[in-house]
This record gives sequence, structure tokens and C-alpha cells, in this order.
Amino acid sequence: MRQHIIVGLDVGTTKICAVAAAEHPGGLDLIGMGVTHSVGLRKGMVINIDDTVDSIRRALAETEACTGVRIKSVSVGISGGHIKGFSSQGAVGIKGSEVTPSDIERAIEAARTVYIPLDREILHVIPTEFILDGQEGITNPVGMSGVRLEARVHIITGAVSSIQNLLKCCEKAGLDVVDIVFEPLASARATLTRLEKESGVVLVDIGGGTTDIALFKDGSLRHASVLGIGGNHITNDIAVGLRVTMPDAEILKKLSGAVAGQAADLPADIQITQSGGQVKTIPSECLVQIIQPRCEEVLEMVRGELKRCCGYEHAIYGVVMTGGSSLLKGFDKLAESTLDLPVRVGLPDMMNGLEPIIKNPQYSTGVGLVASYPEHDRTKTVHAEDVNSMLGKMKHWARDIFRHAETTDINHKKEGGTVCSRSKK
Ligand SMILES: Nc1ncnc2c1ncn2[C@@H]1O[C@H](COP(=O)(O)OP(=O)(O)OP(=O)(O)O)[C@@H](O)[C@H]1O
Ligand SMILES: [Mg+2]
Repeated sequence: MRQHIIVGLDVGTTKICAVAAAEHPGGLDLIGMGVTHSVGLRKGMVINIDDTVDSIRRALAETEACTGVRIKSVSVGISGGHIKGFSSQGAVGIKGSEVTPSDIERAIEAARTVYIPLDREILHVIPTEFILDGQEGITNPVGMSGVRLEARVHIITGAVSSIQNLLKCCEKAGLDVVDIVFEPLASARATLTRLEKESGVVLVDIGGGTTDIALFKDGSLRHASVLGIGGNHITNDIAVGLRVTMPDAEILKKLSGAVAGQAADLPADIQITQSGGQVKTIPSECLVQIIQPRCEEVLEMVRGELKRCCGYEHAIYGVVMTGGSSLLKGFDKLAESTLDLPVRVGLPDMMNGLEPIIKNPQYSTGVGLVASYPEHDRTKTVHAEDVNSMLGKMKHWARDIFRHAETTDINHKKEGGTVCSRSKK
């Protein structure tokens, strides 16, 4: 059976994650995922091409090994402080007596005809509403009678250099990029319900290097922005505050980290190894005292952004927090009190397969990239039957690896790894 395999590539500051799904008439089945530690990015942007290419290659190799599919095309995510959004509108006269899809296209084209500096490029033009002869709030005017059609859109742009650098990394890793998607749009696709987007909700994706914010109302994006702060800042604070290495600080944060009032079920004391090898026992309250101010700072910045974009007026459903940092114990509760809005943690929840591993806020962007893979490009991706011969090779390769593993000590990685549904079959 011919089957389309589609792949989303989340090039994050802390991890690179390639999510592969098989398309079938009923939807998408996740069939494998490769996650590797990301090297070469800072605050969501490429700062070292070779390191980023290496990280992408490793994530792809993991995914290819477990799915048996040679990955040629991906939909890739982009973020970083260079990304900006603004609203625009444009109007056209209707050619016939009823609005046709081509009238809509012309109206959107008119709305996107704005001055964009040469060093910036449009990533998305998202229609927010249509106005037909003065009647506002129309979501789909096809077939309606009228004379003048106006489109209101939200335009997302990015710095040409940052976009080119990301594309260059993908190309050097042997990939054809079929789409480049602003990451919170992908995360929103994976975590938000239609009702939330209709009623008004803010997605806050707190990753390692960035905090992405996207406000949805009446089913479409109204505002988006990126803050250059994330979980890495918390890790850094722990490393400096306790004089431990960054990897140790990361482990302490994940295992024993919490915000105030949430550490009750954690041990009263924790052991740390300071640089120089000195082992110390400290109250876990010390860790909380280091983590808390940075979390408050992130949330204050989100609050400021919500005030600026009228988020408090629109976000009836409150906030959906996602991204790896939303796993920090009590961060959602702190967000609820700081932002004064209901908060839930958003897990990717829209495809079959690989549960419960995939149901982790770190993978919201990767899953969302697969889900938003452009329809017309799905045929460009690999067909499962095209890779049968390769699958044979993969099996030999895997057998060799396991044979080798029996005779050598496997060095287990702290970060990253392969998750595969095929291997379970
Ligand atoms: N259990 C946990 N507790 C606290 N923090 C966590 C936990 N698990 C992951 N994190 C943090 O989440 C962050 C990584 O999140 P994520 O994978 O969403 O980021 P990213 O996509 O690589 O980065 P970005 O989107 O900012 O470019 C890291 O700072 C990591 O320490
Ligand atoms: Mg991310």
C-alpha cells in the first residue's frame, strides 16, 4: 500500500525533534520520532551553521532508523526575536454578483501589499475576517452577494538572514523544506481546541531560549510575539546561584525544581556537587528561591505583552501553556495567579500513536508541524513502498548495531533518543 510519510522538524534552542507521521484517509498516525540535544542555536536562532546541521542530521538519523523511511522533505519551525506580526487590510471590487474564491484571493493579496523592508520576509498572511459591503465578522464570504470585499489579515514577518540561515541548515542536512512555520502556530495547532480559538485564548510556549506568545480569537490569530527568555535562563540562574555545572543545574531543575508553595512533596534537602567536586546538602527551598524570581520575570513579561495586545479583553478561555518549561512544577499555578487568568498545560493531542511519549509539551511544535504540513506538498514526501529496499538495509544495520551493543558497553545518552512505533509491532 502506498502511504505518505510526512515529517515535522522542530529546530529548538535546546532540542531538535523530527516527528514522522503516516497519512491515511482517517487522519495521521505518528510512526516515529528522533530527538537530539540541540547545538548551534541561541534564543531560537541559528548562531552556528555546522553545529546546527550536525544536530539536525542526528535527529533525522534517529527518525530514519526507527521508521525505516528516508526523509527528504520536512516542514520546519522558526522562532526568535526577529519575528514580528502586524495587522493589515485590503479591499477589492467583486467581479460577479457573488463572492468567489478568486475574489477572496485578490482581497488577501491586496491586504498583503504593504511595504516590507528589504531585510524582512513574509512568513504567513493569516486572514482574520472579511467585510462585505460594510458587514463585519464574516469568516467565509464565498457565495455571498455583494460589491466590495475587504480582507483583514495578520502578517507575520521574519528577518531574511535568520530565515535563510535556517533554510541553509536544512539544505545542508539534505532536506527539501516544503514549508516554514512560525513555531507557536504549530504548537497551537497541536494543543488548542477549536472552541478555545473561537472564544479567545493565549498560547504561551515556554521553551529553552524563547517564550512564544500567540493570541487567538474568532478562530484565527490576532497577535503573535517572541520574548527572548526561557527555561535556559532558569538553568543558568541555578548554575550561578548554587555554583554547579549547567548540566547538573538542568538535572536539579527537572528533578527537584518547583516554584513557591509547590515543593511540599519534594524532599526537604537536596544534594549538589559544586564545581571543584565539593558535595553539599542544601534545603530544596534554596532551589525554589532561585527559580521563583525568573519564573515571575517571564510571567511579568507575558503579562506586559498581553496588556499591549489587548489579550485581557480577548482571552476569554485564558492561557494554554506549553513548551518544555511548562513542566516545571507549579509554573502553571504561578501563571494563573500572576496573569490573573485560567491556565492549563497544553499537550499535543491530535494524532494516534506513540502515546504517552508524544503527549509532552516539549513536542507540541513538532506534532503541530506535521499536522499543518501543506496538503499540496504531501505527495512530495516519501511513500512507504518506495523505501522497502531501504528497509531491508535498515534491518541489517539495526541488527549489526544490536550485535555490536552486546559486546560493548552502550553509553546511554542523558538527552535525546529515538521513539518508534514500528519497533513495537
Ligand atoms: N520537567 C521539567 N521541569 C522543568 N523544566 C523542564 C522540564 N522538562 C524540560 N524543561 C525545560 O524545558 C526547556 C526546553 O523546552 P522545549 O523543548 O520546548 O524548548 P526548545 O523548543 O528546544 O526551545 P525554544 O522553543 O525556546 O527554541 C529547557 O529549558 C528544559 O530545561
Ligand atoms: Mg520550541
